Amino acid sequence: MWASAVLLVLLGSFGANALDNGLARTPPMGWLAWERFRCNVNCTADPKNCVSEKLFMEMADRLVEDGYKDAGYEYVNIDDCWMAKQRDANNKLYADPERFPSGIKGLADYIHSKGLKLGIYTAYGNFTCQGYPASGMHLELDAQTFAEWGVDMLKMDGCKQMDRHTMKKGYPQMTKYLNATGRPILFSCSWPDYERGAGIPINYTLVAENCNIWRNYVDIQDSWQSVLSIIDYYAKEQDTLVPVAGPGNFNDPDMLIIGDFSLSVEQAKAQMAMWAILAAPLLMSNDLRTITPEYRDILLNKDVIAISQDNAGIMGKRVLQKSGVDIWRKRLQHPIDLVDALVFLNANSTPMNVTVTLNDVGIESAALGYAMQDLFSGKTIYLGQMTEQTYHLTPWSVLMYWIYTSS
Ligand SMILES: *[C@@H]1O[C@H](CO)[C@@H](O)[C@H](O)[C@H]1NC(C)=O
Ligand SMILES: *[C@@H]1O[C@H](CO)[C@@H](O)[C@H](O)[C@H]1NC(C)=O
Ligand SMILES: *[C@@H]1O[C@H](CO)[C@@H](O)[C@H](O)[C@H]1NC(C)=O
Ligand SMILES: *[C@@H]1O[C@H](CO)[C@@H](O)[C@H](O)[C@H]1NC(C)=O
Repeated sequence: MWASAVLLVLLGSFGANALDNGLARTPPMGWLAWERFRCNVNCTADPKNCVSEKLFMEMADRLVEDGYKDAGYEYVNIDDCWMAKQRDANNKLYADPERFPSGIKGLADYIHSKGLKLGIYTAYGNFTCQGYPASGMHLELDAQTFAEWGVDMLKMDGCKQMDRHTMKKGYPQMTKYLNATGRPILFSCSWPDYERGAGIPINYTLVAENCNIWRNYVDIQDSWQSVLSIIDYYAKEQDTLVPVAGPGNFNDPDMLIIGDFSLSVEQAKAQMAMWAILAAPLLMSNDLRTITPEYRDILLNKDVIAISQDNAGIMGKRVLQKSGVDIWRKRLQHPIDLVDALVFLNANSTPMNVTVTLNDVGIESAALGYAMQDLFSGKTIYLGQMTEQTYHLTPWSVLMYWIYTSS
């Protein structure tokens, strides 16, 4: 019963302030173009990989046909560089007509016909990060345009906005304009990251009232070092970040780079496990047309996804650092006997062994002991109340468990 009581308290505290658009009750899942495809706009030179409607349609097809949609990945998200270089005669944004001949409305219709959702991108300044027209002076018009097209999610970036002090006003204005369209549009804000970069205090209460998900820290790059530096930031800031996460509101450590060029299979498992335990959005940025099966299997791991998508929406915490291993725990909403998820992370280039009891990592006493299921191997082990267990970690790897009380 302790667990339900804790949950009620937690849900009560963030429920009151969350953005009330009914979306992102669990961390959103899908695909986002940026990290993999960037601002590749030359479709003559690179027709297969340029930012075009064809790219998004092909990713939508893969999501449906290769099992991702069934696993929960539902958003297909455009990032920067989709726009024509200027607005139209009525000041409306429109997509580059050569790369998006169907227009965004046509693309949205295609995405919706597959049972998926479409995300789009703008920025809060006058220009996007790559110099395309953005929403600065046209927040209301652009919110209406996105809604008319049938957009389901909006990422609003902020790099060309010189005065970051205005973001506390500007982002909430966009929230109001999105709401006024009457179309539920999941709002992804880059605002806290820009305030952090400028040394402006972040008011996460205000952020959570206006955004469903938000970037806290720098863009992910295709490297293990980048993944580790992001994890490190969330560990250091966890006392600030954990309380603001919950249904409707999630901290966003940026995209999954699983299946791209840099992560080994073990490192890819580590990113998947950590993003699940952090209750992070699971937005893949990879090429689903060419991804190999061992990476696809990691992205489709049902048990790890279940931890990510737990209804309580609690962000996990680093609870112990011992013997070179970081141990993270996430509380789950569950039938009474299913209590926690644990991740053991070895960020070192050498093997590590760590010996702990479950009590050491804050798992409540269970008279009958515990059952632990390894979410990557599927193996179950049973442990008594105070049983010490040694966990062996290969270099740059994780172990991830689901902990049940044994009955
Ligand atoms: C696209 O790439 C081709 C071949 O590399 C090049 O000739 C052309 O100038 C490029 N177009 C633009 C707009 O950069
Ligand atoms: C955006 O453009 C408007 C009108 O030209 C200008 O007043 C404003 O300062 C610009 N904003 C930024 C952030 O450059
Ligand atoms: C707009 O906000 C109201 C009040 O918070 C909420 O009830 C409604 O669902 C929102 N509508 C949309 C489309 O987000
Ligand atoms: C943060 O935002 C909340 C909600 O809008 C507000 O009530 C509070 O006063 C703000 N805190 C600070 C320090 O400005």
